[in-house]
Amino acid sequence: MQFSMLFSAVSALIAASVVGAVPGGVTIQEVYVPPVTSPSGNDVWKVGSRQTVTWDVSRPPKTITNSIGTIMLRKANLTTPVILADGFKILNGKQVVTVPWVVDGDDYQVVLFGDSGNNSPVFTIKK
Ligand SMILES: *[C@@H]1O[C@H](CO)[C@@H](O)[C@H](O)[C@H]1NC(C)=O
Repeated sequence: MQFSMLFSAVSALIAASVVGAVPGGVTIQEVYVPPVTSPSGNDVWKVGSRQTVTWDVSRPPKTITNSIGTIMLRKANLTTPVILADGFKILNGKQVVTVPWVVDGDDYQVVLFGDSGNNSPVFTIKK
């Protein structure tokens, strides 16, 4: 009985974080995953150039567990060990990065980590 009640509560929390909103305005401790707004799907980043990664901080939560961010590079749906930026404030909403010397590809993404990870759309890096 106790366990199944706990299970229901946990399921409800997971469902709430998946849809990103709780009907009726109930406040829960949510994981903050601000959507990455740049790079977007048609972007081409030149190796060695400086680019600004942006994300939407227009709806910040009351509390953030980890307010310091890290941006990493992904390719082919896998997060690489490449750190593009680290140690910035998530609530800044943007961070300038230098595009690393990597192989050309049209299947790159960045992932913003704070409380949780949030991927950008897929974009291109070229020499
Ligand atoms: C990455 O994931 C997307 C969405 O699931 C899929 O369409 C795409 O083919 C995947 N790309 C690779 C390289 O696996």
